[in-house]
Amino acid sequence: MSSRTVIRGGLVITAADEMHADVLIEDGRIAALAASHTPAAEAFTADRTIDATGKYVIPGGVDGHTHMEMPFGGTYASDTFETGTRAAAWGGTTTIVDFAIQTVGHTLREGLDAWHAKAEGTCAIDYGFHMIVSDVNAETLKEMDLLVEEGVTSFKQFMAYPGVFYSDDGQILRAMQRAADNGGLIMMHAENGIAIDVLVEQALARGETDPRYHGEVRKALLEAEATHRAIRLAQVAGAPLYIVHVSAREAVAELARARDEGLNVFGETCPQYLFLSTDNLAEPDFEGAKYVCSTPLRPRDHQAALWQALRTNDLQVVSTDHCPFCFAGQKELGRGDFSKIPNGMPGVENRMDLLHQAVVDGHLTRRRWIEIACATPARMFGLYPKKGTIAPGADADVVIYDPRAEQVMSAATHHMNVDYSAYEGKHVTGRVETVLSRGEFVITEREYTGRAGHGVYTPRSTCQYLP
Ligand code: URP
Ligand code: ZN
Ligand code: ZN
Ligand code: ZN
Repeated sequence: MSSRTVIRGGLVITAADEMHADVLIEDGRIAALAASHTPAAEAFTADRTIDATGKYVIPGGVDGHTHMEMPFGGTYASDTFETGTRAAAWGGTTTIVDFAIQTVGHTLREGLDAWHAKAEGTCAIDYGFHMIVSDVNAETLKEMDLLVEEGVTSFKQFMAYPGVFYSDDGQILRAMQRAADNGGLIMMHAENGIAIDVLVEQALARGETDPRYHGEVRKALLEAEATHRAIRLAQVAGAPLYIVHVSAREAVAELARARDEGLNVFGETCPQYLFLSTDNLAEPDFEGAKYVCSTPLRPRDHQAALWQALRTNDLQVVSTDHCPFCFAGQKELGRGDFSKIPNGMPGVENRMDLLHQAVVDGHLTRRRWIEIACATPARMFGLYPKKGTIAPGADADVVIYDPRAEQVMSAATHHMNVDYSAYEGKHVTGRVETVLSRGEFVITEREYTGRAGHGVYTPRSTCQYLP
């Protein structure tokens, strides 16, 4: 049975345009757009009409970096695919790309199958997978080709976490060479983990055990050094490269220089690096543990470089790196030893609002907001134009956003399965009102009307952001 919805009178914002338009949705896809109050728009007929006067009509957010149920440091990220995708929808995100994990001694296939099993039938919104490659060997390299063919077109490697996810330069080069050949995109966690582990050991030996030392040992220079090394290895391999969770201005400078040289290197940052700082890591009574993630939060004066890079396109994407651990029982594993605090922060629900606040604050234009949060991640990870825009033929993943509503972020009102908010008490202007995923109402005027299992696995093409 065919179903039609029309959204009338809103300001439709995409990465390319802003237009007062009516949007016709048919059978889960955008069927047509027409300027509001014109005969073409008046001719749209539907079973359901939504009045979006005074609101923005934007593409659903695409969060290219989440870790639902991720195992880390003897525990698991506290959001399941069910709770995490529901929270994402509340925050105006309609697609996530999560990281399946290969563990050492096992195949990529085993890791991918395990992640499919966790997600299948539980998600409120659509999802895809990147693959974390922890064990580069001849078999793994062959499997990379197969994964690209079935829609897992990006592979994360770690220059950090020796003994867990770490790859050495030779393993990185081999994976990059393979990606150069099969069209895959290497995503790099760029921190010199070997050097960091030395500094961790020395800090602990001096009795420096508080969360703030997490930020001190994971030095900006060691992020920049690894970023530089990853860029040059990718250059040697002839492969494009995407640096995840960039936080240091020195790392931004490495990216900017490489891009000036014409290299296909891309970077993402995350809201925590734009809005939080080492001041949070230094909060007393172990509260700083709430802000332990890697790369770490930096001193506040790094933020200007991140905002500027987002404007000049030296950084292209803002993802969340959503990887929540409860303060009680999880972050507390690291009391007395900051190196045992599980790394990661919640944020999948907050990203679209925080970036809208950046529009209000004058850091970004409205179109750039949509570009870095929806369109470019969709292109980067091979989901465009199905995801990331509002155009005929695209999935009807649409958010009706009230740009004037005021809200205060809080664990008391968020929907993520975690006992604190990294933005507790923060006032932001703008709020998600209604969310559609493939034409179905997931959030309806601030009420959850979605269901676990509506979200489907979405295979991806190779990177569409290359020139
Ligand atoms: O601290 C973080 N970022 N935890 C998630 C894993 C990663 O490195 O992205
Ligand atoms: Zn195995
Ligand atoms: Zn990482
Ligand atoms: Zn991550």
